[in-house]
Amino acid sequence: MKLTSTSYDIEFGALEKSSFSKILEQYKSFRKIIMVDENTHEFCLEFLITQFDELTDAEIILLPAGEENKVMEVCFQVWQALSEYKISRSDLVINLGGGVVTDMGGFIASIFKRGVKFINIPTSLLSMVDASVGGKTGIDLGAYKNQLGVFSDPLVVYIDHRFLSTLPKQEWVNGYAEMLKHGIIRSEKHWNKLIKIQPEEINLELIFESVSIKNEIVLKDPKESGERKLLNFGHTIGHAIEGYFLEKGENVPHGTAVAWGMLLESKIALNKNMLSQNDFSSISKVINTNFPPIPNFKNDSDIIFEIMLQDKKNSTNLIKCVLPTKIGSVNYDEIIQQEDLVLIF
Ligand SMILES: NC(=O)c1ccc[n+]([C@@H]2O[C@H](COP(=O)([O-])OP(=O)(O)OC[C@H]3O[C@@H](n4cnc5c(N)ncnc54)[C@H](O)[C@@H]3O)[C@@H](O)[C@H]2O)c1
Repeated sequence: MKLTSTSYDIEFGALEKSSFSKILEQYKSFRKIIMVDENTHEFCLEFLITQFDELTDAEIILLPAGEENKVMEVCFQVWQALSEYKISRSDLVINLGGGVVTDMGGFIASIFKRGVKFINIPTSLLSMVDASVGGKTGIDLGAYKNQLGVFSDPLVVYIDHRFLSTLPKQEWVNGYAEMLKHGIIRSEKHWNKLIKIQPEEINLELIFESVSIKNEIVLKDPKESGERKLLNFGHTIGHAIEGYFLEKGENVPHGTAVAWGMLLESKIALNKNMLSQNDFSSISKVINTNFPPIPNFKNDSDIIFEIMLQDKKNSTNLIKCVLPTKIGSVNYDEIIQQEDLVLIF
């Protein structure tokens, strides 16, 4: 299975049967740099190195795992290492990991010497269905998620779901959140399939469906001047919650924050009579069943609001949000006020 995106292909299925060998052959003279974190170093790297002889001599860059490490300090150290290795634009970076590795590895490669080519091989469900595709790379700055970044396309993305065999159970739900998002924004059919199964039962076909939804939207609006904003459903509040906790030195998984954001943004839509009680109850049931309860932010709505104002989607002092009108359809650029937050926290 294969999808064509803006300037690159997304291939699905066994890596050995994909075009990966051909690409390695094509870029034979390029040195290979594989970016991993501690977990993908332990669980995913051996497979890659043993299956593909061309990677035996690859330089391995080990990134510290976790969102708290998706920061400039880590990038800086990697750029220094790349300089010491004398990496040039005639070399190739391979990002093997979850969304932190594909976001940060893509950013590091894109900035270094004005752009080294990179391939994404996502290993978490979230990075397969979302982070590794779409051309957004970046890192966090304090409480502000993905505040530093560039749009930069990978050379190819390979989605081999066998990497998920070692993914911890609690991580599946984070990818599941982004898949539910794809259902709410575009496809009731996809949503209905997802809510009937446990997150760990997600198969390659459902991953393909989710990526197809994202890709179709990205193709229409790669740089997010309009329709791509739909993909930010749950993220205006979700990113602010993630930032709120990052600032305190605590880590809320991205998928959990997005799930909470989707529920809270759906509640705003319900309060504005944009969403039916029935659809709201369906969203609320799935999120409450699969994710931890939403913490009480009643006394901190001003802090959350302040973080939201820094959201990249806001060009003025107004907060623009994606709000659902029914399962399968959302509106973007809906203005929300601090009072809307007070009502839902
Ligand atoms: N660029 C985009 O469009 C986009 C979209 C959505 C999310 N994101 C970003 O993605 C990040 C979240 O991604 P994530 O949930 O993958 O986080 P992550 O990269 O931190 O991975 C989650 C955990 O799973 C481990 N892991 C990954 N693959 C594994 C495997 N096969 N076996 C064992 N352990 C494995 C990782 O080491 C980590 O501990 C956030 O930073 C978010 O902002 C980006």
